[in-house]
Amino acid sequence: MSFIRTSRHILHPDSGMSLPEGEVTPRGVHEGRRGLLRGLGAGGLVGAVGVGSGGLLSVGEALAQGGAAVKRPGKLAALPSVRSAVVGAYAMDKLTPHEDVTTYNNFYEFGTDKSDPAENAHTLKTRPWTLVIDGEVGKPQRLGLDDLLKLAPMEERIYRMRCVEGWSMVIPWVGYSLSALIRKAEPTSRAKYVEFTTLADPKQMPGVRSSVLNWPYVEGLRLDEALHPLTLMAFGLYGEVLPNQNGAPLRLVVPWKYGFKSAKSIVRMRLVEREPVSSWTQAAQREYGFYSNVNPKVDHPRWSQATERRIGEGGFFTPRKATLMFNGYEAQVGQMYAGMDLSKFF
Ligand code: MTE
Repeated sequence: MSFIRTSRHILHPDSGMSLPEGEVTPRGVHEGRRGLLRGLGAGGLVGAVGVGSGGLLSVGEALAQGGAAVKRPGKLAALPSVRSAVVGAYAMDKLTPHEDVTTYNNFYEFGTDKSDPAENAHTLKTRPWTLVIDGEVGKPQRLGLDDLLKLAPMEERIYRMRCVEGWSMVIPWVGYSLSALIRKAEPTSRAKYVEFTTLADPKQMPGVRSSVLNWPYVEGLRLDEALHPLTLMAFGLYGEVLPNQNGAPLRLVVPWKYGFKSAKSIVRMRLVEREPVSSWTQAAQREYGFYSNVNPKVDHPRWSQATERRIGEGGFFTPRKATLMFNGYEAQVGQMYAGMDLSKFF
C-alpha cells in the first residue's frame, strides 16, 4: 500500500492514474507458466498432491483433475498439503512467478518500498511464535507454532490477490480455513467481529520505528467473514513455509477483499462485539474502510478500481485486466453482503 506521506507517484500515461513509483519500475520477463508439476523426477519438486475420497492421489491423478501440485523452489522447508475441497479455492489463472510473489511486497514493518520486505525481513524471528485467541470466547487459546501447524490438514489453494493500488497476483497458498482456529476457541454469542493484531517489534522490524502507521498493524473481519471457508490462515506458499516477507509464520488471506485486509505475522486474534478499527482506517478513514471488498465499480479516492495490472505478466504497457466483483469470488461470498449499499467506497 503506498501512503500519501511516503510514496513517490508517477502518472500512468494510459489511464492518467497516479501510480506509486515502485509499480512502474520495468520488470524482467518471467517464465510465468501455470506452475503444475511436469514430472516428479527432479529433486525438490515435491509441493502438494491431491486428495480424493480414498486418500492421497498420485501427482498424475492430481494433475488429471486439474490439481494443484505446484513446483516449489526448494529454498525453504517444504510444507506438504492436500488439494482443497473448498469451492472457489482454485483460480485457474496463470500463477504469478515465485520471484515476483516474494520480492514485490507490502509489509510496512520492513519499509515502504516494494523491495524493502525481501531485503529487510530476514531479521524477523518466526520461532518461537505464539498466537493468542481471546476476547469473547469460551476457551481462550495460546497456541505455539507447532500446535498451529498440526491443527488442521494443510491445503493448497490458488487465490487471486488484488491490492487496492491496482495490481494483482495469483498465489498458491498453503494453509487451512481460519474457521478451524476460531471454532477451537468457541466464540460466545456476543462475538460479532474478529480483530487481528500483528507483531510490532522495533528490534526485528525497522519500519516500526517510523510513524507511517499506528503500530501494531491491526485488521478486522465480521465473524461470518472470518468463518467463511474461503478465508485462509496461510502458513506457506509455493509448497514451502512462508518467506518472512510474505508474513511468516502465519498470515491471513481474504481473497475477495483488497490485500491490506490480509494481515501478516499475526500474534493475536480477539473476538469482539464492536467493529474493530484497523490501522489503515486510523491513517485515512476515507480511503480504507472496514469492508474493503473488491468492487470494480467503486473507485478509491486515489485509484480507479476498474482494472488491474497482473504482476509478472509483461511490462507497464501490457493491457490491464478487468477487475472482477469480489475479485471473482462473488458466487461464494456475495450473499454475505445482501442488502448492503455497495455503491460507497468500502
Ligand atoms: N500486514 C502487515 N502486518 N503489514 C503490512 O504492511 N500490508 C498489507 C497486507 N498485510 C501489510 C500486511 C497489504 S497493503 C497487502 S497488499 C498485502 O499484505 C501484501 O501481501 P504480499 O506482500 O504477501 O503480497
